[in-house]
Order: sequence, then structure tokens, then C-alpha cells
Amino acid sequence: MCGIIGYTGFREAKNVLIESLKRLDYRGYDSAGIGVIDNQLQVFKEVGEIPNLEKEITVVKGTFGVGHTRWATHGKVSKENAHPQLSCNKKIALVHNGIIENFKKLRDDLEKKGHNFSSQTDTEVIVHLIDEEYKGNLEEAIFSALKKIQGSYAIVVVCEDEPGKIVGARKESPLVIGVGDNENFLASDIPAFLKYTNRVIYLDDGELCVITKNSTKVFDVNKIEVSKKEELIDWDFKDAEKSGFPHFMLKEIYDQPDTIHQTLRGRVSGIEQSIDFPENVGKLLDRNLDSINIVACGTSFYAGLLGKYLIEKLTDIPVFVDLSSEYRYFGTRNKASLVIAVTQSGETADTLAALKEAKNSDCRTLVITNVIGSTATRVADGYILMQSGPEIGVAATKTFTSQIIVLFLIALKIAVLKNKLGSDELYKYILNLKELPRQIREILERSDGIKNIANYIKDANSVFFIGRGINYPLSLEGALKLKEISYVHAEGFAAGELKHGPFALLTENTPVIAITTKDATYDKIIANIGEVKARGPKVIAIADDNDTEIDKHADFVLRFPSNSRLLSCFSITVILQLLAYHVANLRGCPIDKPRNLAKSVTVE
Ligand code: M6R
Repeated sequence: MCGIIGYTGFREAKNVLIESLKRLDYRGYDSAGIGVIDNQLQVFKEVGEIPNLEKEITVVKGTFGVGHTRWATHGKVSKENAHPQLSCNKKIALVHNGIIENFKKLRDDLEKKGHNFSSQTDTEVIVHLIDEEYKGNLEEAIFSALKKIQGSYAIVVVCEDEPGKIVGARKESPLVIGVGDNENFLASDIPAFLKYTNRVIYLDDGELCVITKNSTKVFDVNKIEVSKKEELIDWDFKDAEKSGFPHFMLKEIYDQPDTIHQTLRGRVSGIEQSIDFPENVGKLLDRNLDSINIVACGTSFYAGLLGKYLIEKLTDIPVFVDLSSEYRYFGTRNKASLVIAVTQSGETADTLAALKEAKNSDCRTLVITNVIGSTATRVADGYILMQSGPEIGVAATKTFTSQIIVLFLIALKIAVLKNKLGSDELYKYILNLKELPRQIREILERSDGIKNIANYIKDANSVFFIGRGINYPLSLEGALKLKEISYVHAEGFAAGELKHGPFALLTENTPVIAITTKDATYDKIIANIGEVKARGPKVIAIADDNDTEIDKHADFVLRFPSNSRLLSCFSITVILQLLAYHVANLRGCPIDKPRNLAKSVTVE
């Protein structure tokens, strides 16, 4: 899970590479390095975040080079293990994202041939293999070297003897060309070069590209040049900036009135009273659909669980939700089922594997993702974009709400196709959806009240989140958000489950967040609150503005504006996000880059 960048053009490569690495550090941040060629290859590496590396860099003038930000998989965090990795003669520099599975055997063979290794990384075997094959043409050497490699990779390589040329290749790890004027880029993620260009060419698995400042060429595994389509990214560069917020996470929470609007844009028509998706999705969402299987990881998995409640409620068709890491090995593949993968990045290794398994079993596949051209969009039969813009904070926020919007639209679409929803009801939902940005703004204005509660729970041993129905996945997501960025232990439970074990953990220092909505189980959750309080902990309820009953039961109440019951999940989500953010901030945690985590988990 590393970030990689290559640059060739007219600017000082050092500056471009450092700038790009700062935008990529959400991919990994235990060490970083750059290699720049100005007649001679010069390499700088440092442990820690990019500013540490910046301090190490002396004068270097070259206009092409590579850069890397690392999240260790093989070999400890050290300068030697940071990338770029170099050939024995120190003329070839390579950066890599992925895992080389047969690296031990390759390393033994190369050492027997006299290669000296200076790191414990799996990556270093690739550069020595290239060195071994090098006869004056970098791409030829890379083609030959890659034949011997098993595993996943995106690599970017430069050689001192071939000025201005950068070669990249990918298999199961993302790599995208940024096309500029008199300059070109090659990176694992678009934000790396978005400041300079929004014209991109996505590489597919098995492809290799050769870029110079004036040309981009892509070849397939058989070395045949392929013509690739250039695409325009409509993300604003400023979206990848903090815009005055102290953290990307906070900015992204505050982005939500706009991102929800963006996700609805072009899909929902109040005038025609219809829900529309791109054409290729039409054939996947038909009226004969009789079951859905959702696969996802982490926050996207919780969005999937929420989607299950929404789709089942509105359409009556059964929805099964699996963690991708389980589905890929144990999932039941039902050919009649539509498999929906939910993945912000479109690059999560387990979700891609689950998707491929589903395809191999002849299931129809649909992806909900934020990244156009990501691997998932190219594997699946169809995709729906979240349209939330780049999300930089490691904690998923605005993309979670966009995922739920898309799943909600899917539920409405199927409900209409199956005649389960009349046009009046659909119209009501459409109006409610359009109201969401305003309601989210109201929640954001209540941030100070949420901060007071954060102050109360910030020193807790553990925090429980409980809810029923659609509020159960929200409890899971609320707990994940809190634990991942504040390091306070937190668990989410279906409220009815507490007495089956978790009660044993309750002490006075275990605040319980109870998510309540005025639905059929309202009395039940009130009873659960009573059971909790009888054991000592304080209860913080999250409740509707119109709920006058709740103050009699909870110690504190966080309110959200009244809306259609199904749509309250959006307001509740934002409350949970702000609560986690404030707790983490009060505890002084590195919010955008929590320890041991990376934004995209591109390895199994
Ligand atoms: O890119 P994906 O949606 O596939 O990522 C899945 C998870 O890694 C991700 O949702 C993770 O749990 C969040 N960053 C947590 O906030």
C-alpha cells in the first residue's frame, strides 16, 4: 500500500516529486524517497513523513525521476528498505507498490549470480532482475524481468543511461498516466498530479508504458503497442487541498452537503419522477432481479449492510452482505444474483478478488466506486460512480454517505421496476433526498454540542454504540470511526444483543451511544437504554428533533432534524463522524493518518 510517482518534463523533478508525495502520503507514511537524474542518479530516502525527507534533500537539478511513500509489508521501516531501490551499479532506480510472492527464490538466484542486496524488501529483486536483463533498452529489460515475477505490482523505473525516459508497468495494483504539456506523470493515484493536469490514461493489468516529456506509449504483454483513450477528470485540484480546515477529515465531513448533491446529480429527476443510471447499469438492474449479494470491506461493508436494509425494505428482494475477504474464499455464488461490490477506491485487493470470483462464477457484477477507471470499474459489468471527489483522510466520511445514496437510489430504482413503489411515494423520497444537503448543514452547525459530548467520552476505557434495524450498521460504523482515529476502544452492537454477552464489559466508564429513531422498535431501544443505565454507564442518545420522550431516559441527547425515517441515517452518520473527529482531536491524534492504517488496502 504505497504511493508511487514518476515525472518527466521541464520542471525541477525534485519539487514535483515532493509535492506529489505529499498528496500520496495517505497511501503510506512510514518512510519515503526520491530518485532524480541529472546526468547521474541521485537518491534521497528518509524514515517518517515527507517533511523528514525534504530536510535531507540537497541541491539536485534533474527534470525526471521517481518518488515513493511506503507502508511496510516486507522488511522493517528503515532507510534501506525505503524506495527507490537501486541496481548494483546504482544506475537504475525503481519504486513499487504491491507484493512479489516469489521474491525469496528470485533473490537466492540473483545472489548466486553476484547481485548484492541492500534491503530486506521484496521490491529489490525487481530492480536486480531488470539490471540482469538490461542491454541498453529499459522497457525490453522490464518486459523480460516481469516474466519471472509472481505477485502484484505497479512499478515506475528510470535509468541513468536513458535520459528523460520513464517506464511503468502494472499487475493488480493501480497505475495511471497524467498527460501534461511538455511533461508527463505516472502515479498510483490521480491526486498525485492533479495540480498539473486532469488528463489521464489508465493502464490495464499486464500493460507497460514508456513516457517521455512529449510522448506516452502503452504496450500489452506481447509488446504490441495499444491505443489508449485519454480521459478528463472533473475533480478540482482544490478538492485535494485542506481549504483552511485543520484536517482533511474535517474538510471532507463538511464537504458532505455538496458531495451528496453531486452524487444525486444527473440521477434523480423530480420533474420526470425517475431514477437514472448510466446505460450499462440498466441491464443489471432489471425487474426480474430476485436477489443481491453485496461484497465490501470496512466502512464500505457497513454501507453495504445499510444498503441491505434499504433494498429489502423497498423491494422485498433478499440481500446478502459479505466481507470481501470472506466471500472470495467461502461465498456462495448464485448465478441468478447480482453481485454489487462497494469500494471507494476501486482498488481494495480483497474486493477485487471477490469481484473476480463472482465473474468467474458467471454472476452479473456491478461496482459502486468513487474512482473512474479504477480496476474495479474495469472488472465489473457495470459501475456507478459516487461522484464525491477525492477523499484524502484515511477515515472514510463523505464517500460513506455517497455510497448510501447510491444504494438508496438502487433500492428506489428496483422498487419502481418491480411496481413496489408508486410515483407519489417515489416523488416524496426524491424530495426528501434533495432536502438532505440542507439537513446536513444543520448538523454541521451543531458541531459544538457534539464536541461537548466528545469531551465527556474522550477518556473512556471503551465506548459502545447500539442501534436496531438500519441503526445497527450505523453503530458499527460509529464505533469503527471512533476507534480508527482516536484509538479509544469502541464496539458497535445490535441493541438486542447486549444481554447475550457484551453486558459483561459494561462499567461506569463505558459510555453507551444509543441511536434511536421513532420506528417500530423505538420502545425496545428505550428498554435497552434502561438496561444499560441499570448497570452504571451514562447513555448518550442520538435522536430526532421531534422526540420529546428520549430526555426522560438518556443522560445526554444529540439531535438531528426530522426527516423520512429511512433518510435519518445520513444525519446520524454525520453526528457519528463529528463525534469521532472531536474525540480524536481532543486526544491529539494524527487524524488524517492513523497509525498502522493506509487509505487503500491494495494487498490481501
Ligand atoms: O476503498 P474501499 O472502500 O474498498 O476501502 C475499504 C476499507 O478499507 C475502508 O472503507 C476503510 O475501512 C475506511 N478507510 C475506514 O474509515
